[in-house]
Amino acid sequence: MSADEMKKAAAAAALEEVRPGMRLGLGTGSTATWFVRLLAERVAAGLDVVGVPTSKATEVLARELGIRLITLDDVAGLDLTVDGADEFDPNLDLIKGGGAALLREKIVAADSRRMIVITDESKRVETLGAFPLPIEVVTFGATATIRAIADAARSVGLSGALGFRRSAEGDKLVTDQGNWLVDASFRQISDPKALASALSRIPGVVEHGLFIGLASSVIVAGRTGIQRIDRSPT
Ligand code: A5P
Repeated sequence: MSADEMKKAAAAAALEEVRPGMRLGLGTGSTATWFVRLLAERVAAGLDVVGVPTSKATEVLARELGIRLITLDDVAGLDLTVDGADEFDPNLDLIKGGGAALLREKIVAADSRRMIVITDESKRVETLGAFPLPIEVVTFGATATIRAIADAARSVGLSGALGFRRSAEGDKLVTDQGNWLVDASFRQISDPKALASALSRIPGVVEHGLFIGLASSVIVAGRTGIQRIDRSPT
């Protein structure tokens, strides 16, 4: 299986969890795009569901494919969110935001009863952090916020390069919510919870890409097939 076929297989496995009448969170990225495409086929065949997109890109795609869209303001919570990830660890903690959509992704996941993460084998890690951690920051005072991020990281024993995400044209990338992204190369985040709470205390940080305790299950597609890992009950 190619990487793309694995992403499609993980998306197809998640689709089996979808039931008529569900309110769905629709993720962002190449794997989540497969889920949206496969879901749209089922919708065209009569499945009645509604979705909340986690980015403008997903919104455009879902609308084009005929999936009925709502907002989080229209309903009291979602049944299920299906989204990709940049890394997942054995606790099912995640790094997300490689596709610049972490803020809406986290709001949608937090308002969902369940979150299923769909990935290929390449996203599995023992310790989060090889993928640079995306941190969404307010544009006002962004350089001061970067300094505060470095201090917060140091307080939990981490350091590494911090740089603004750039667009293909070389400008600072502006997120769907009008903020900038800082990518933090911490390499090994041994205590993601401690880093998450240190980052959350910085006024200029809107959100960060550490998704802790949000994923209910991860569906991993590998060359030998599909594996589903469920969060153990607490
Ligand atoms: C989007 O902001 C991200 O969180 C994506 O879910 C993540 O980058 C995974 O994307 P791919 O499925 O394209 O690898």
